[in-house]
Amino acid sequence: MDSLPLPAFLYALALAITFQSLAASATTTAYPSIPGAASVDCSVAGGDSNLIPPRREVYDNGRIFDITHRYFPDLPVWDSKDGLGRHFLWLEYSIKNGSSANGSAMMLGVHTGTHVDAPGHFYDSYFDAGFDVDSLDLEVLNGYALLVDVPRDKNITAEVMKSLEIPRGVRRVLFRTLNTDRRLMFKKEFDSSFVGFKEDGAKWLVENTDIKLVGVDYLSAAAYDHSVPSHLAFLESREIILVEGLKLDNVPEGLYMLNCLPLRLVGSEASPIRCMLIR
Ligand SMILES: *[C@@H]1O[C@H](CO)[C@@H](O)[C@H](O)[C@H]1NC(C)=O
Ligand SMILES: *[C@@H]1O[C@H](CO)[C@@H](O)[C@H](O)[C@H]1NC(C)=O
Ligand SMILES: *[C@@H]1O[C@H](CO)[C@@H](O)[C@H](O)[C@H]1NC(C)=O
Repeated sequence: MDSLPLPAFLYALALAITFQSLAASATTTAYPSIPGAASVDCSVAGGDSNLIPPRREVYDNGRIFDITHRYFPDLPVWDSKDGLGRHFLWLEYSIKNGSSANGSAMMLGVHTGTHVDAPGHFYDSYFDAGFDVDSLDLEVLNGYALLVDVPRDKNITAEVMKSLEIPRGVRRVLFRTLNTDRRLMFKKEFDSSFVGFKEDGAKWLVENTDIKLVGVDYLSAAAYDHSVPSHLAFLESREIILVEGLKLDNVPEGLYMLNCLPLRLVGSEASPIRCMLIR
């Protein structure tokens, strides 16, 4: 340090701090494995020789949170070790092969990633009657929502639901659980030990609250070993909408405006969905 003139030392220090904060922002980035996925500010990336698309989790200085997961090969898929894989999206024609434009196609299970369940998912009669995702109520999917933290040592039982003391009148709740802490949606291998609603928890919610939108942070609202009874309890009335696989990391607990928009897939009991929270 003695040999370094002061201005040079300060410059080195400034650089070190810059790199440190860059590194810090990179580690808090949701998808460190995607090249260019770090939240890049255009003004920093800049320049024609350095074309890097911005990828953000938060917009407008913390006002808008994207709570949707990206569709990419390592996204976990129900009961699979392999994740989504790289073949769900492909170029059907491309500029490099002489076409005037690039055109991709995709093939995707409708329960992949952040998605919504319609009543037809667990009720055959509702499926046949046409209660598909196109019939879901956009009013339920859009409006004030509470993001709450659930005790981390239990699945969501009636007792847990009771302890959360969610006031009557609250119609949309996003439940953040141990799944978020364990970053399960960022792990390619499906993990059946995720936290979800036990049957008595689902029934308690149906009978004792006004909640019509239930949001959860892994691929199913129901705990793995209660998959059928919990879904049946939620979907029976055809009034409750389940939004699953939400990305609730780094969003403060509290009240938000929620916007969730499914695709109008006629005849489908689920759809990928884009959801965001607005302060
Ligand atoms: C167009 O397709 C080429 C492959 O032929 C690919 O390298 C390029 O990234 C594509 N461009 C866009 C905008 O997707
Ligand atoms: C371009 O065409 C070749 C030959 O038909 C094919 O093997 C390749 O996959 C195509 N690539 C793209 C990006 O479309
Ligand atoms: C939640 O239930 C699953 C079974 O569905 C179990 O594997 C897991 O350990 C439970 N989690 C907690 C925190 O009790």
